[in-house]
Amino acid sequence: MDATLNDKFNWEGIEKSLASTVTVIAGGARGTGRAAAEQLLEMGARVAVTDIDPTRVETAARELSQHSDRVVTLVGDCTVPAEMAKVAEATVDTFGAVHNVVYSAGAYRAQRPTLDVDSDEWDLILDSNLKGAFVTYQAFLPHIATAGGGALVSISSLAGRTSSPFLGCHYSAAKAGVLGLTRHLAKEFGPQNIRANSICPGGIVGARMNDLLTDLDRQEDLVVLANQTPLGRNVYEQDVVAVILFLLSDLSRFVNGATIDVNGGILTI
Ligand SMILES: NC(=O)c1ccc[n+]([C@@H]2O[C@H](COP(=O)([O-])OP(=O)(O)OC[C@H]3O[C@@H](n4cnc5c(N)ncnc54)[C@H](O)[C@@H]3O)[C@@H](O)[C@H]2O)c1
Repeated sequence: MDATLNDKFNWEGIEKSLASTVTVIAGGARGTGRAAAEQLLEMGARVAVTDIDPTRVETAARELSQHSDRVVTLVGDCTVPAEMAKVAEATVDTFGAVHNVVYSAGAYRAQRPTLDVDSDEWDLILDSNLKGAFVTYQAFLPHIATAGGGALVSISSLAGRTSSPFLGCHYSAAKAGVLGLTRHLAKEFGPQNIRANSICPGGIVGARMNDLLTDLDRQEDLVVLANQTPLGRNVYEQDVVAVILFLLSDLSRFVNGATIDVNGGILTI
């Protein structure tokens, strides 16, 4: 029995402890990953941002340059083990350790009938959303174990809990797979003090949703979605960032293998 585990927590201590960590954000050059990177940097943490898109990585490097002593930006395809091994090595070389990984990467394609989805498109969505999480975690887990533990946060989706009105069969399958992978890692790596949890956001207001609804010519559906949501609005990136920070911090020190919905109550299961 450890009586100190029942000590009251203090916010300052929680923040200080998170600020002392190194977090990798995969798919972190844009959107929610990028927003999480900014928040962590503003708290004083060290962050490695990696993304497949060189232009986005360059933009992120420029826009995060005020934190240049605590951020590294790296181009890498999360589905390729050799590239993620290099990203892991560069992160540890830069910061001396790594504690956390947020997997926010993934491609998407506007929904079309399942019978029209070819196997190349299936592979792109499954690989970038699911295999990429496996490859990235595999590259970083030994380093996190060496550092004494940490946290993995997988950004899955409401589509992985049910299905999406905007995205296809492959996306739902990949995001459901991410939940299974993350639960497995929670069991396997918990004994090494590594927690693994997933977040399932509903449709997030931002660049991706904007591009997607423009492709589908369904911009008005955001209003419909907001009206169907018990809390009366859509999800914003910062709604998800708050839960990422919770799952990376000691506030969630006994949360492992969980799936947290961030959807305003549009789906309750
Ligand atoms: N936007 C939404 O409405 C929404 C809703 C629920 C869940 N999600 C999930 O949340 C995560 C973040 O979404 P977002 O809106 O920030 O998306 P985004 O498209 O803005 O960012 C995702 C990033 O992943 C990168 N990426 C894609 N494939 C990659 C690969 N193989 N290797 C490395 N990087 C790769 C992209 O270049 C992009 O910068 C994604 O996993 C997405 O599926 C998004």
